[in-house]
Amino acid sequence: MLSQSLQDSLNEQIKNEFYSAHVYLSMSSWFDDKGLPGFAKWMRVQYQEELAHGLKIFDFINDRDGRALVLGFDAPPSDWKSPLDVFEDSYSHEQKVTAMINALYAQAQQEPDYATLVLMQWFISEQVEEEKSAKLIVDQLKLAGDSASAILILDRELGARTRGPDSEGDAS
Ligand SMILES: [Fe+2]
Ligand SMILES: [Fe+2]
Repeated sequence: MLSQSLQDSLNEQIKNEFYSAHVYLSMSSWFDDKGLPGFAKWMRVQYQEELAHGLKIFDFINDRDGRALVLGFDAPPSDWKSPLDVFEDSYSHEQKVTAMINALYAQAQQEPDYATLVLMQWFISEQVEEEKSAKLIVDQLKLAGDSASAILILDRELGARTRGPDSEGDAS
């Protein structure tokens, strides 16, 4: 069974993952409004991945005879200056999430709670991918600069994104 303090921290992380989902959903709407459906789709897939992350922890707590909670959070931002501004925001957001996951890992290590360590290992690897993909698009948008045609090519490319096999949300 989970300790109360670890359960509290995991419940906080469910909240953070669902907040991330809302950040990406808001970004998706922004891109849709700017006539960039490929970017909007990429963000929509990201939204679904973040929901799956939240549910992964949710199910884990309940599987461990704990009690997963649905906690409230503030509204995400809704406006950005440019596609680059959106992705810089997304990249720094993911860096903050990585720090949260690392803190959870350290807490689980201190107890120690081995099952939580295994779960957090999945999240640590996932964060490497999350930071990598956000940073790549930041770099590409910097290269594109003010070129509308380069942004439109990137829009086509990002629109091809589909959900990966790792993002189904089950903790198995
Ligand atoms: Fe996440
Ligand atoms: Fe993420």
